[in-house]
Amino acid sequence: MHIIESPEAMARWRSSVRGDIGFVPTMGALHEGHMSLVEASRTSHPCTVVSVFVNPTQFGPNEDFHKYPRPVEIDEAMCLSRGVDALYRPNVETMYPPGFQTFVEPGAMAARWCGASRPGHFRGVCSVVLKLLNQVSPQSIYLGEKDAQQLRVIRRMVSDLNVPVQVTGCPIAREKDGLAMSSRNRYLSPSQRIGADALFRGLIAAKDACHEGCRHAADLEAGFRNLLAREGGWECEYAAVVDDDSLEPINLVESKALFIVAARRGTTRLIDNMMISGPDSAPMAGD
Ligand code: PAF
Repeated sequence: MHIIESPEAMARWRSSVRGDIGFVPTMGALHEGHMSLVEASRTSHPCTVVSVFVNPTQFGPNEDFHKYPRPVEIDEAMCLSRGVDALYRPNVETMYPPGFQTFVEPGAMAARWCGASRPGHFRGVCSVVLKLLNQVSPQSIYLGEKDAQQLRVIRRMVSDLNVPVQVTGCPIAREKDGLAMSSRNRYLSPSQRIGADALFRGLIAAKDACHEGCRHAADLEAGFRNLLAREGGWECEYAAVVDDDSLEPINLVESKALFIVAARRGTTRLIDNMMISGPDSAPMAGD
């Protein structure tokens, strides 16, 4: 496995690669969710690149940039054992050298949901993803569907700015109890981890209710909030039934919709989502 630590070294390595590349951008603290993206890339591309870069521009001033886990050696070993061809881990100084001043400004889709509580977050995400795409120059980029808004904002950027890359969203990887895998799960204390699957249970309850005919977004959202309130230890940030493409809120589920949620458990902010559909619609993947 090649370990590449600067944009210049990436440019040198990239010019030596002939076949096409699948790219998995990450902030490290790798888990099986990331590995499922690696697996998806490896089945379609002769060469897979993983980047590990904790991107300061997507964190707000009071967020967890400094405490974000950085298990450098474990991440490296995980990539090596899963057949990653190149691990790209540039540092902040080479990604944002003195004088850096150009950012990608995403549009309305980035302003609500996570964007509302994390101003500037998607500006940072889009800017770093575009930089990484320019550096790695892959045929495909693999992103997790857990970050539903991030996936759609990046798809929008790629389309709007004619970035020559295919964007592939991969299914959410879950722990045995249903908790969506996330690097931030390691912030949960053992007592907070018990019951942290409530987001998943709330989504399943909404999916079942919708399938049985409860198609009003307000009722589904209230059901989810009530479940978290009953469980205790949660502060719900949003629970919303939205259009799968635009992420605009919808009032009534006609055929299918995306249910997106974000909540804090102590100081840990968790997100999750699930497709839901009404009684008349065709079965969805996973049904
Ligand atoms: O999802 C993440 O880990 C990050 O937002 C990403 C896409 C690697 C950009 O820093």
